[in-house]
Amino acid sequence: MLIYAGISAHFHEVILLTDKFNKTGEPPHKIVIAVDGPAASGKGTLAKKLAAELGYAYLDTGAVYRTVALLTLQGGGDVAKPEDVEKALETIRKGITPAMLADPALRTGEVAEAAAVVAQMPEVRKAVRDFQNDFAKNPPNNAPGAVLDGRDIGTVVCPDADIKFYVTAEPEERARRRFLELKDRTPGLTLEEVQKDINDRDHHDMSRTISPLKAADDAIILDNTHLNAKQALDAALEIVKNKFSGGGGPSPAGGAKGPRI
Ligand code: C5P
Repeated sequence: MLIYAGISAHFHEVILLTDKFNKTGEPPHKIVIAVDGPAASGKGTLAKKLAAELGYAYLDTGAVYRTVALLTLQGGGDVAKPEDVEKALETIRKGITPAMLADPALRTGEVAEAAAVVAQMPEVRKAVRDFQNDFAKNPPNNAPGAVLDGRDIGTVVCPDADIKFYVTAEPEERARRRFLELKDRTPGLTLEEVQKDINDRDHHDMSRTISPLKAADDAIILDNTHLNAKQALDAALEIVKNKFSGGGGPSPAGGAKGPRI
């Protein structure tokens, strides 16, 4: 049986989603779309737009790590000390509000760096993973699905996600885009500084032992270097449409060596 579970205003047509009701009458499986990729690759923009088009809930998982870092810093703690970070985790376990995730204070360079540090701690990853799993299983407002963007969604948090995208772009292009985004509110900022920050974060994210950033074997690699936001969204929507209407679409990438779109 098929149900109509998402209407794409973009395609002006109904996307047919396979009905995953099981025989025991349990609630329908919520569709999960994982969007992973390095810093400033455009994965956040893509994931947010994808969620809006499909009527799914959206979670910026980086903002959750940033919240842990910000709460630790605001409490006068050292983000390199697990005992200081633990206090922030208590707040996370009690529940994170949308207002916390939208706090502009999360968007500073200092908090980005601190987030990459706390994200290496096993206790932090566990608490954040529990929150993410709950979000994916029970999306807010009873949405029919969820789009989560991050680093390890397709590999660790939601390995059974219905669709996995790995969004990437050349480091120079990522730095250029991030610089244009930040320069007006950060007087004196240089492109070289932003490039260094991107390189450092790539290094942290890809080399850490737990949940390193990498494409899941069954991820579709979307190289954003020469695409604008609309072209990336169109490409992703085409894949979602093909998948749920029974069409073929590009096959999984088989990791970073696989075919790209
Ligand atoms: O994506 P964003 O730059 O906001 O993420 C901040 C930091 O949080 C990243 O540098 C990364 O170290 C960490 N992170 C992570 N796993 C995720 C999302 C973010 O380790 N799923």
